[in-house]
Amino acid sequence: MHTFKIFSGLSATLSDLLNSLSSYATSRLTRLLLSILSCGPIPRHIAIVMDGNRRYARERGLRVGRGHEAGFESLKGILEQCLRLNIRCVSVYAFSIENFTRPQEEIDDIMHLAKTNLKRLSEEGELLHRYDVRVNVLGRRSLLPLEIQQSMQELEESTSSHRSSILNVCCPYTSRDEVTTAIRSAVSDARAGLIQTDEITSDVLFSNLSTQKSGSPPLDILIRTSDVKRLSDFMMWQCSSNTSLEFVKTFWPEFGIRDMVPILLAYQRKVVLSRID
Ligand SMILES: *[C@@H]1O[C@H](CO)[C@@H](O)[C@H](O)[C@H]1NC(C)=O
Ligand SMILES: *[C@@H]1O[C@H](CO)[C@@H](O)[C@H](O)[C@H]1NC(C)=O
Ligand SMILES: *[C@@H]1O[C@H](CO)[C@@H](O)[C@H](O)[C@H]1NC(C)=O
Repeated sequence: MHTFKIFSGLSATLSDLLNSLSSYATSRLTRLLLSILSCGPIPRHIAIVMDGNRRYARERGLRVGRGHEAGFESLKGILEQCLRLNIRCVSVYAFSIENFTRPQEEIDDIMHLAKTNLKRLSEEGELLHRYDVRVNVLGRRSLLPLEIQQSMQELEESTSSHRSSILNVCCPYTSRDEVTTAIRSAVSDARAGLIQTDEITSDVLFSNLSTQKSGSPPLDILIRTSDVKRLSDFMMWQCSSNTSLEFVKTFWPEFGIRDMVPILLAYQRKVVLSRID
């Protein structure tokens, strides 16, 4: 318990300190903090619902597109921080299957955005290469325009030999669809006589979820930004047992190391505590 007290005390003090510093000092300090954090237990897999691009733009009187651009910059920054910390896997919710019910005009905008972001991500080849990141696109991509499907495939192929880390881009994804797909494939295997019905266990279904098939480690932390406290059909099974759920107020484009540090400290505290028990 003693260790726990020191940890909570430390994390509260650091958070206070961060909040009271200028952004210049914060960036110096957070870099230092990152290197301190890297000595402690590091989460294996972080999933993020990148919420708040539109509200960020609206509050500043910017076009929605600018909000999404800022969101992409934020993703790049966070991804690099995670990679520096040796976090093996990052999953992001880029587009929900539910979003297809939105007005056509808006869907066209989103598809345009998807195309732009895929292109940008490919241009980040250097980052993906340096950190040996394999990109997987998870979800029902047959619902997307052909051109986008092709870019996704190219991105996956160009990084398929990378082994150190994983970036899962969930697009278009929902948990319910992921589970349904796993069940459908088990049923079809059963019909073909490849598996007995009573061999279809939750372990078998779980191992057929797209995250598991792409080799993702257990989900340690799920983050949702922009002060929305819902899962919105993201990683529902993956986060059902031992995942820390972190809801933060910051809009996604503004989410940074300042928000990450308290989350990582809380995780380290949890691990230390579980070792004491
Ligand atoms: C998709 O829909 C969800 C839920 O309505 C929303 O929170 C999210 O911002 C939408 N994503 C995009 C890219 O429009
Ligand atoms: C997926 O499900 C099949 C049965 O449909 C099972 O044989 C297999 O072990 C499961 N796991 C993976 C990773 O394919
Ligand atoms: C839950 O996760 C933490 C952090 O990864 C770990 O230390 C702990 O042993 C886990 N507990 C269970 C019951 O798996």
